[in-house]
Formats: sequence, C-alpha cells, structure tokens
Amino acid sequence: MSTPNPNPENRQINIIDPAFTLNPQPVYDEVLTRYRVAKTIGLNSPVISRYEDVIWALRHPEIFSSEMDMHVGLGTERPMIPQQLDPPLQTRYRKILDLQFSRARVMEIEPDVRRHANELIDQFVDAGECEFDRDFAIPLPCRAFLRMMGLPQEDLELFLELKNGIIRPPIANPYDIAAAKEYRAKTGKRIYAYFEALIDDREKSPRDDMMTYFTKVELDGKKLTRNEILDICFLFLLGGLDTVTATLGCSVFYLAENPEHRRRLAEDPSLVPAAVEELLRWQTPVTIVPRILKQDWELDGVQMKAGSMVSLLIGAANVDEQEFGAGEGKCVHFERERNRHIAFGAGPHRCLGSHLARMELRVGLEEWHRRIPSYSIKAGETPRVSPGIREVMYLPLVWEKGGAA
Ligand code: HEM
Repeated sequence: MSTPNPNPENRQINIIDPAFTLNPQPVYDEVLTRYRVAKTIGLNSPVISRYEDVIWALRHPEIFSSEMDMHVGLGTERPMIPQQLDPPLQTRYRKILDLQFSRARVMEIEPDVRRHANELIDQFVDAGECEFDRDFAIPLPCRAFLRMMGLPQEDLELFLELKNGIIRPPIANPYDIAAAKEYRAKTGKRIYAYFEALIDDREKSPRDDMMTYFTKVELDGKKLTRNEILDICFLFLLGGLDTVTATLGCSVFYLAENPEHRRRLAEDPSLVPAAVEELLRWQTPVTIVPRILKQDWELDGVQMKAGSMVSLLIGAANVDEQEFGAGEGKCVHFERERNRHIAFGAGPHRCLGSHLARMELRVGLEEWHRRIPSYSIKAGETPRVSPGIREVMYLPLVWEKGGAA
C-alpha cells in the first residue's frame, strides 16, 4: 500500500548505480509500494512511477512537455524532430513519418534482417562462444536500420562510430563533462555532414528509399527544409539503434539466467512474439523518460514547479500490480493475456519505430534460438549493464560446440 509522501527527498533513486542498472526490480518494488513520487540523484528531479500516473503524464503533453534544452550537449544544434517538440507541431511530422514506419514497410525488409542475423551467427557459431553485445546485439539493429533507410551496409562501422560518439564519447575520463560535450559537438557536425551529403545525392539521383522520400515529401504543401531532414535523421540515429541493442541484450541475458523460459522458446518458436512483449515489459530497457512541467503540479502532496524536470519511470510502471495484477506484475509469463506495457511510451510520442523494433527482436530471437537453442553465461564472468538505456555491454555466452545447428 502507498503511504502519503509529502517529501520526495525521503527516497532518492540512483539510476546510474550499477546495482540498479543490473537489476532495477527491487527499486521499482519500493517506489511502487511506498513512494508515489520519489527523486533521482543526478537528474535531481521528481520521479513518478505508478502506471496510472505515468500514462496520464505521457498523454498530457500540454502539461508534461517534451520541449526541453536536453538537445544542448547531445551534439545537436536544434531540437530533434519529432521527439523534442510538442503537439500540434510534433503531430504534423508524425503524419509523414508514420507512413515510412508502418508494419507493411517493415515486413518488406524482414527477409534481409533474417539474412543479416544468420550471417552474424555464422561468424561465431562454431566457436561455441561469443560476446553477445559486440557480436550480435550491436550489429543486427544497425544493419536493419541501414537497410530501412536505404543506406549502404559498408557504412556500418562509420554509423556505429558516429552513434557512439554521441551516446558514449570515447574520452579518457567519462566524468569530464566539458570534454564529453566537446566530443559530442564534433561528432554532431560529422553526423550533419554525413546526412547532408546523402540529401545532396538523393536530390541529384532519386531512389526508392527513405532518404529520397524526405527530399520529396510535402507537409502542408511545402517540402521539408534541409534542417528538418537533418533533425529527423539525427534522432533516428540516436533512437533507433541502442534501444534495440539494449532490448536484445536484456532479453537474452534474462533467458540465459532462466533456462526454463529459454528452453520453452527454443522448443516452441510460436512463443517468440509474446516473449518479445513480455521481456520488453519486464526489462524495459528505456527505463526513464524526461518531461518539463508547463505549469505547477501537485501529486500525492508533492509540489512541482512549472519549468522543472520530471522523470517518468516507465520501468516501474511496467511492473505495477495495479495494472498487471496482484502477484502477476512481478512474474514473467509468455502467455500473459493482457500486456499493455509502455516500454515504447504512450500518447503522442509513442515510439515511431515500434513495428521495426518488434520485427528485429522477433527475427533476432527466432534465428538465435533456432541455431543456438542452449546457451549460458560463461563461467566466472559477470555481465555489465550500462546506465541510461540498459544495454548489456558485456554478455559472454557459451554453448556446446556442434550442439548448434
Ligand atoms: C526496442 C526498441 C525501442 C524502444 C524500447 C523504444 C522506446 C521508445 C520510447 C519509450 C519512446 C517515447 C519517448 C518519449 O515519450 O519521450 C520512443 C520514441 C521514439 N522512438 Fe523508439 N524505441 C525503440 C526502437 C526504435 C526504433 C527502431 C526507432 C527507429 C527510428 C525508434 C524511433 C523513435 C522515435 C523517432 C521516437 C520519437 C517519437 C515522437 O516523439 O513522436 N525507436 N521510443
């Protein structure tokens, strides 16, 4: 039962604590049962965690705004489109973007994604071991994304370097904020230059691909400006790769530690789509989404000021027993009947790439378990999970040589 919580200072959550990123469930349990509003150390913002509160906030952008200065420091020169805009402007862009990310469009590239998954597995299956993040979870979404955008597969390494230059700048001291900002700004310029060159190319020689679509599509009778295209592509690069990498890693980490669930998936591939949803719910790799309050707000006796940041802990909302059932929210059930998880967000900003992500996850898990049905974490090794988006950055797996197809 929740007790009134007049002071969020009562409970501070450290979302970059390695113990939290490795297993956030004890913290979720505590905030859901005791602190309707808690506070983050680091972001220094109130944290809302109940399903009903989080979903309400996500559906009310007029109060919980996405227009924030967070793009400053991410190497971008303007807000990313559409994520850092509020409706009605955000909704205008979604109209032209949703068409490109429809289920039907995604199905067109499924055979290629399946081929990429098998090509990756070919490289290590006979060795009987791999580092899952480096060898599978990172390259698969990147290959899928290049294919979706109509970009050459040879750009894989460059693409990964650019993305990492923003998300994890390779600087000597990771806590040196000024150095990280400088590195991101330099990388941001390279990202703009990369996509500018593509726009030039597609304007001269149109093709049947997404970049060409951006150069031609009209919004309210006007073509997109160069900056609008760049601000969309920048977001795709940041939002479309790490999220799928993290979900693949969290899912396979869970399955390696829970052999009964792993065995069931390997024996019955028809369970994979439901397993994808349940593992998205249970692991929620994008744990938190930030918002800026447009007006003063009060929840459970906690006063929050207009202009301040609020964190929505979707990871906790996804295991809230008020929504998922008493005793049920904290169990992993591939046969769950009603799974209204919000791992892709909710409301107007609900993930644009959810069909693409679901297909990549389904194909990735299907092919992995078809070829490597039995695997475990290498003895004596400890997986590591990154803060922020929960990527399993080190996941050494082993299996019996020759035991795989
Ligand atoms: C399992 C993988 C993924 C997860 C868990 C995920 C999660 C999310 C979440 C939680 C949001 C809402 C953010 C907010 O409300 O502020 C979001 C938005 C978004 N996602 Fe994803 N995402 C995934 C994959 C992808 C992919 C593959 C793309 C491809 C481009 C993508 C593109 C976007 C974009 C463009 C938005 C912003 C939508 C808007 O503001 O209207 N995502 N995603």
